Amino acid sequence: MELRSEDVFAEGVAILRKEKIASATTAARLLLCFVLGTKDFRAHTVSPADAERFRTLIVQHKAGCPVSKLIGSRAFWDQTFYVNENVLDPRPDSETLIEAVLQAIPENTTSSQILDLGTGSGCLLGTLLVHRPYMRGIGVDCSLQALFVAQKNAVRLGTANRTHFICSNWTAALAQKHNFEVIISNPPYISRRDIPALPKSVLYDPLIALDGGEDGLACYREIASSIMPLLCHKGQLFLEVGQGQQRAVKKIFNILRYAQSYKDLSGRVRVLQFIKE
Ligand SMILES: C[S@@+](CC[C@H](N)C(=O)[O-])C[C@H]1O[C@@H](n2cnc3c(N)ncnc32)[C@H](O)[C@@H]1O
Repeated sequence: MELRSEDVFAEGVAILRKEKIASATTAARLLLCFVLGTKDFRAHTVSPADAERFRTLIVQHKAGCPVSKLIGSRAFWDQTFYVNENVLDPRPDSETLIEAVLQAIPENTTSSQILDLGTGSGCLLGTLLVHRPYMRGIGVDCSLQALFVAQKNAVRLGTANRTHFICSNWTAALAQKHNFEVIISNPPYISRRDIPALPKSVLYDPLIALDGGEDGLACYREIASSIMPLLCHKGQLFLEVGQGQQRAVKKIFNILRYAQSYKDLSGRVRVLQFIKE
């Protein structure tokens, strides 16, 4: 017998609320819409099989699995990205980097290339290329599985013909001399000892996307050691940083001129901008 979608939804919300899950209503709505393949569940009835599928997802979410990982997509800036267990979920904090680059690079910029180190789902590079339609980009990641997701996202966004993905340990597989006007990176920056204490939901992200070595700064050091020949004169580097890493990352990149920092919505410094002179 078909069930009323409102009742199925209310049951899901109640289960999540009982566990004090934040945004229980939004989570239950996204999960039910996903199961029913619709944008508005209220217009539908629910079969017993779909109700069971929905309950299973609610239980998985209750156990800590993020909604994005359950439905396979996540909104970022003004786009939606495929995600899976091989990529970091795009985070609202990383939208600070988009804001910084869009401020720095005029809309009609031509013939200029962006290099994205540690592209993951491709959310940073893809969003920038959507908004800078004359630019091209290279996305690098050491995870081939992540690059499959990034490629799928580039096709979804319509930027695939301007994007090239390379599987590489940071810059190792790139030609020694390049002339990138813009390099961006949101490298793994969590200190290894802090990883076990992260909220359960973060542990659904791949470890390779989180682990910044003993002090969280290992990837910045690696990137700094090879970035100079890749940036053109006046080229700009934008780096996402973790909480409290601002000073240490500035020091690591003192081979470039520090330009300015950008804060996220909670007022924390999230992005540093450097210029090659
Ligand atoms: C914090 S995630 C960022 C993903 C995406 N750019 C974003 O902002 O959502 C870091 C990414 O760096 C990649 N990565 C880690 N170590 C790497 C290495 N040695 N070389 C290249 N990429 C690496 C990970 O696979 C992961 O996709």
